[in-house]
Amino acid sequence: MSDFSSIVPLLACPETLSPLTQEGDTLKNEQGTAYPIVDGLPRLLTPTKSEEEEKVRQKMQKFYEKFTFPGYDGIDSPGVLMDKAQKSGFGRWVDQAVSPMATVLEVGCGTGQMTNFLGLVGTRKVIGVDQSIASLTLGQKFKEQFDLKNVSFVQGNIFALPVKPNAVDVLICSGVLHHTPDPYGGFKELLKRVKPGGYIVIGLYNTYARIPLGLRKCLFTCTGNAFRWVDAHMRRKDVDSSKKEIWFADQYKNPHESWHSVDEVLKWFEETGVEFLSGVPNIGGMVEGETPQHQKLFSAHPRESSLQHVMKQLGWMFSIGREGGLFVLTGKKK
Ligand SMILES: C[S@@+](CC[C@H](N)C(=O)[O-])C[C@H]1O[C@@H](n2cnc3c(N)ncnc32)[C@H](O)[C@@H]1O
Repeated sequence: MSDFSSIVPLLACPETLSPLTQEGDTLKNEQGTAYPIVDGLPRLLTPTKSEEEEKVRQKMQKFYEKFTFPGYDGIDSPGVLMDKAQKSGFGRWVDQAVSPMATVLEVGCGTGQMTNFLGLVGTRKVIGVDQSIASLTLGQKFKEQFDLKNVSFVQGNIFALPVKPNAVDVLICSGVLHHTPDPYGGFKELLKRVKPGGYIVIGLYNTYARIPLGLRKCLFTCTGNAFRWVDAHMRRKDVDSSKKEIWFADQYKNPHESWHSVDEVLKWFEETGVEFLSGVPNIGGMVEGETPQHQKLFSAHPRESSLQHVMKQLGWMFSIGREGGLFVLTGKKK
């Protein structure tokens, strides 16, 4: 039997938000409803309230039960995971920004690479939530194999999150909200779980950076997926073919996605009392002690004008656009 005593105080019933207690292989709410724990994964997934939105969620769940993203190919030890994350720049910056004592929640963690990576610092408490059991199972396998006691995976829905309000120091949600029918509504749900003074890290498809990809998508659709080599990722020699198939499906065959601009997300921040801190790629210049190789994600960066943001994002077509066009903004909950 898995012991969830260290995270149960942070969890809540996804339907009533009442506290949960562990009884054997179940988590029970105050009304006696029991949620099973199967193979070390608490099953706390409940539907999105609106029927239309629930239909989209189910479609997305089916997709990610088949295409487990990002997978673990070639990552067969904590050392390799650490090496990969450190090399990615972003992984290294997140690790440097997140306190070793922090409670971290990653929502839409997929196969949990980031969750497990942050959990390599044993003093952090890290929880990964996703709706896809197939993805979570891969994360759980890595966690168990390398005995990461401070890491937990939980099945849940962003729109019925099984986590108490004001529970975590850092919330990470990257590559997820744009696959939901209500990204801003999802953002607000996530923010509720962050402690005042805590940090939120949001990664979304960028409206401008994704234009070339949108054009390639039309090309592939019209030609029955011929010319797949036009995508730079599909030409990479360091990525194996099954990983490339998952990438192709995720980027070009995804049942639901939306695109977002920097100023749109900054407006979400303003409307919900979140202080903008930093953007990746950088959108407002550097702060003291920073270099292009080392960005301080949780330090307040200057902001440029909307016009400057548009110019920067147009440039992203030729940089991050080649790898999916995902940009990240970090903020601090006031
Ligand atoms: C593109 S993957 C991103 C995985 C990971 N964050 C990363 O960056 O590698 C999107 C993930 O979001 C999850 N997801 C989408 N909608 C969700 C929802 N409503 N609730 C929970 N997870 C959701 C999917 O199951 C999938 O694993």
